[in-house]
Amino acid sequence: MADVFDVLRQDHEEVKAMLAKLEAGPTAAAGATASQLEGRKKLTEQVIIEESKHEAVEEEYFWPAVREQGAEGNRVTDRAISQEQDAKRVLAELDKLGAGDQQFERLLTGFTADAREHIAFEEEQAWPVLRAGISAEQAREIGEKLFGAGIALRRILAQQFDHHLIETGRDLWPKRAGQWRL
Ligand SMILES: [Fe+2]
Ligand SMILES: [Fe+2]
Repeated sequence: MADVFDVLRQDHEEVKAMLAKLEAGPTAAAGATASQLEGRKKLTEQVIIEESKHEAVEEEYFWPAVREQGAEGNRVTDRAISQEQDAKRVLAELDKLGAGDQQFERLLTGFTADAREHIAFEEEQAWPVLRAGISAEQAREIGEKLFGAGIALRRILAQQFDHHLIETGRDLWPKRAGQWRL
């Protein structure tokens, strides 16, 4: 059965795959068509949903467990949470922009580099601290909580994005947006 590290790794791989896809372009500067830019914006929204879900469940279930491991646990947690708060600010800015806006690629490039650094920091510096301090059984229990909360939260975030799309008059997810009642 999956433990906390399996669940987090799966999320990290998903986010990294989406970022690599965005990195492959094409961007507005490289001559992307209107529909390519729309797809780029939609994929960025998926990154925002996945990332928001992931960091929220980490802050709820993962970091408190790391903090319980003492001084080193507190050190890595403080640093990681500060990285997560920075990411939250950048994603909120990115959410307001279209893929054709001038600032969009600058923010996305910065976020991509920071997200890779954050993931590496967690896997290389935070995971070993927790792994050394908990049993396999505890690792599975935390993994279950993370997994369940992640599924619920992703659903809520996706619904919020439907609202957001209706409010701004955009039509990126027409099937689901059409079924959604305000
Ligand atoms: Fe994180
Ligand atoms: Fe993470």
